[in-house]
Amino acid sequence: MIAPASVERVLDAARIEDIVGDFVRLRKRGANMLGLCPFHNEKSPSFNVNVTGNYFKCFGCGKGGNSVQFLMEHEQMSFPEAIRYIADKYNITLEEVDASPEQKVEMLHREKLLEIAAYARKHYEQELWETQEGKNIGMSYFKERGFLDTTIKKFQLGYSSKERDSFAKKAKLDGFPEDHLQELGLINKYGNDFFNDRVMFTIHDISGRPVAFAGRILIKSENSPKYINSPESEIYKKSKVLYGLYQARQAIRKMDDCIIVEGYTDVLAMAQSGIEHVVASSGTALTEEQIKLIHRFTQNVTILYDGDPAGIKAALRGLDMVLEQDMNVKIVLLPGKHDPDSFIRESGAEGFLSYLEQNASDFITFKAKTLSEDSKNDPIRKAALIKDVLESISKIPDTIKRSRYLRECATLFDIDETLLVRELNQMLKKVNL
Ligand code: GTP
Ligand code: MN
Repeated sequence: MIAPASVERVLDAARIEDIVGDFVRLRKRGANMLGLCPFHNEKSPSFNVNVTGNYFKCFGCGKGGNSVQFLMEHEQMSFPEAIRYIADKYNITLEEVDASPEQKVEMLHREKLLEIAAYARKHYEQELWETQEGKNIGMSYFKERGFLDTTIKKFQLGYSSKERDSFAKKAKLDGFPEDHLQELGLINKYGNDFFNDRVMFTIHDISGRPVAFAGRILIKSENSPKYINSPESEIYKKSKVLYGLYQARQAIRKMDDCIIVEGYTDVLAMAQSGIEHVVASSGTALTEEQIKLIHRFTQNVTILYDGDPAGIKAALRGLDMVLEQDMNVKIVLLPGKHDPDSFIRESGAEGFLSYLEQNASDFITFKAKTLSEDSKNDPIRKAALIKDVLESISKIPDTIKRSRYLRECATLFDIDETLLVRELNQMLKKVNL
């Protein structure tokens, strides 16, 4: 826990114009400063930073507060996170109190692991940008796939060399203990590197700290998997991380939507072409925790998966979970063998966006479309399909939304709405028993 005295020092040190200035472009206006409000859409600035009073206030939407409140609201930080952010900025050392000895050990341990992950990130980046092998192999690979320097930097992509222990050697020389390196899965029990001869993707937590890596093989191989990932650790819980969320968070808030794709390279390709509100579930099925993370930034989710059976299945699984969180969900499937990366390369950002617009369906239409192909003239199958859609509707906590979807379902399947209501109520009763 941060000592109250430290909190006081941080609050005293925080200058509202510095903190807000990290995220909003401000211009001087008399004694105060003015900018475009980051909390609502506006064309002429009504977002006021009162330098003397040390607070912000928007005359458009009414939001206001001090530096900590700004960070909590704008960056979705918790109170301690905001305090740490400011302390970092002003080089204030925070005193910790009241934490039990065990808690202290654990915190220290986490910090150490984070430091190692940051060190590894730097190492893989250096191998990509600065070594001959990295340039020849890793960088040419990324370039061949059309990724620009800015994208490679922004997402902190890297390269792991062919040498068996290039990372291990350096890390040990720099004094990182072997057991910690192993704990993060960066080296194996023989002391050699886990990632070899792969291009590297850094996985960040919500504050932008590296917590894990994914390595992609360069040449297709029967014997090795295309991607390998860091194992779970004290700093990396797969189910609680979304690839690209750190880089996407501002865009998600601005667009008030979050597009979920399947692959790392899909995130990169879309972000590079200007569609920045994108994250990837990266290989694992979406989890409730991931959806909750997104919910901190927006109510709206667009699931964008490959049109193959695996993609459809994954989309269906994700759907109910999003509904349960009382969020709105749209689903888009891509044509043929495309994934977002290949599709955007073929049709450009504009073609891609218009495809999204034309093909995004809400979940009822999606279920009806994908599941009804073979049940058109089969009343039993049709009944099963309707039940399936109702199941999804029953997951929605908000009753108004529920009844709106119920009406849509009735129209789409051409059934009496009261019948659906009755069926739905029975389902709800069963759940609540
Ligand atoms: P590229 O082929 O580089 O464009 O990657 P991709 O993202 O298009 O690959 P794909 O569609 O095959 O897989 C989607 C996602 O599933 C990847 O981004 C990975 O997160 C995950 N994935 C794919 N293959 C593997 C694998 O062999 N092992 C693991 N652990 N994950 C994989
Ligand atoms: Mn791909």
